[in-house]
Amino acid sequence: MADRSFVTSDDTSVFVRELDRSYPLIARGEGVWLYDEAGNAYLDAVSGGAMVTSLGHGAVPSILDAVVEQTKAISFLYNVHATSPAQEKLARELIDIAPQGFTHAHFVSGGTEANELALRMARSYHVERGQANRHLVVSPAQAYHGASIATFGLTGRPGLQAPYEPYIQQQPHIPPSTWLFDPSGEAALRALDDILAQVGDQVAAFLIEPVSAASLPGYSPPEAFWRGLEERRREHGFLIWFDEVVTGLGRTGTWFAADQMPLTPDIITTAKGLGAGFFPVGAMLVSRHVYEAVASGSRSFEPGHTWDGAPLSCAVGSAVLAHLKRTGLIDSVRERGPRLLENLRAALDGCELVREVRGRGFLLGVSYVDPVDGASLLDPALAVARRIDNEALRRLLLVYSTQPTNDGFAGDQTLLAPAFVATDSDLDALVDRFAATVKTVESQVKAQMVGAAR
Ligand SMILES: Cc1ncc(COP(=O)(O)O)c(C=O)c1O
Repeated sequence: MADRSFVTSDDTSVFVRELDRSYPLIARGEGVWLYDEAGNAYLDAVSGGAMVTSLGHGAVPSILDAVVEQTKAISFLYNVHATSPAQEKLARELIDIAPQGFTHAHFVSGGTEANELALRMARSYHVERGQANRHLVVSPAQAYHGASIATFGLTGRPGLQAPYEPYIQQQPHIPPSTWLFDPSGEAALRALDDILAQVGDQVAAFLIEPVSAASLPGYSPPEAFWRGLEERRREHGFLIWFDEVVTGLGRTGTWFAADQMPLTPDIITTAKGLGAGFFPVGAMLVSRHVYEAVASGSRSFEPGHTWDGAPLSCAVGSAVLAHLKRTGLIDSVRERGPRLLENLRAALDGCELVREVRGRGFLLGVSYVDPVDGASLLDPALAVARRIDNEALRRLLLVYSTQPTNDGFAGDQTLLAPAFVATDSDLDALVDRFAATVKTVESQVKAQMVGAAR
C-alpha cells in the first residue's frame, strides 16, 4: 500500500475540529470509496462522514446539469422579495412525498437551521392561537439537533452544553427508552407525564428523531412509547416534531422515517439527504393546521436566513429527488437494509464487547459494553469509540463512533450509514472490515482490563 496522506494541526492553516487528530487528506470520491492523494482507497461507511452523500461520491450527471441550467437561469434570489420556479417546484415535490396532511415547506441551508426554524414555528403556532405561555420543547435527552445555542438546549447532553451553558435556554428532557433504562417505553412516558403535570400548559412541542443518528445510532423507541405519545398529544395539545435531518429522503428505506411510525408528526425537519452533498439545502415541513395557525393569525412568519429557498439550492434538491425516484434507490435501501443488519449481526456474533446491533434501512448502530459483565457501560478512559474509529481508519474504513455521555444515557457506540449506491460487495467489505476492527479493539480492551485488574 502506498504511504497515506494525513494532515495534523501542526501542518495546516485550517482551524481543525480536534487538534490532536490526524485527518486523511481525501482528494476525490466515487460511490462509497474515498481516495487520498497517495491513491489509497478508503471505504466510506458513513456517507461522507455525516450521513449526507446518500447518492454516493462523484458526479451524478442529471444533478450537474441541474446546477448548470439553474445557474444560467438564476442562482440566487432572496425569498423576502420573490419566489422562483425552482423553489415552487421543490416545495410541491416535498409535499407530495411527505406524510398525509403536510401542506407547506420552508427552505433553509442545513439541519441546525431547520431545527431553529421549527423551534420558532412550534412557538409561533401557539402564540398565533392565543397560548403565549407555551414555549417548552420536551425531548429525549440522548439526541442531537444541531450546533446552535438554541439547538444545544434541545439536545440535553451535558457534555455538549457545558462550555456554552450561560447562553442556553434549558428545555425539559426524558430518558431514552433503550435496553439500559427503559426497554418497554413506560419509564419515558412516566417522565413525560411528570413534566406535563408540572408545566403541561407551557409545552409547545415534543421533539424526537424517529430513528436516531449519531447519538443513539439506529435506535427507535418501542411501539408502546409512540402510542402513549399520541395519547398525550391529544390530551395536552402540544405538537409532535420529528427531526428527520438524517432520516429524511430515504435513509431508513422510506421517504421519511415517519412513514414507518405509528403516529404522524405535525412538523418535520430534514436536510442532509436533500442536497446529498451537492449543495446545502434543508427544509421544515408543516401540516395543514400548523400552517393555518399563521394563515388565520398574523399572516407572517419572519425572519429567515439569506440562503432560504435560493433557486440553486432548490434546483439541486429537485434533482436529488428526481434521481431517487428514477433509480429506485430508496426501495433498494428498504430491501437490502435487513440483509445488511443480519450480516452485521452475524459477523459480530460472539463479540463480548458488542451489546446491540440495531437499525433500519441504511442507518445502523452498534453499542458496546464491558466485555466482562456484558451489561455495564465501558469506562470512558478506555476510549473505545476513539479506538474503533482509529482501528477502522487503519483498515481503510471510515465509521463514526461516539464516546460515553456524562449523564450515562449512552456508552460507546458506532454509526454505520453507507450511501444508497453501495453495491452488495461494498456492503460485504464494510461488514468484514468493521467486524475485524471490533475484534481487534475487543482484544486490546480485554488485555487492558486484565492488566488493570492485576
Ligand atoms: C439528527 C440531527 N439533527 C440535526 C443535525 C444538525 O444538522 P447540520 O449539521 O446540518 O446543521 C444533525 C447533524 O448531524 C443531526 O444528526
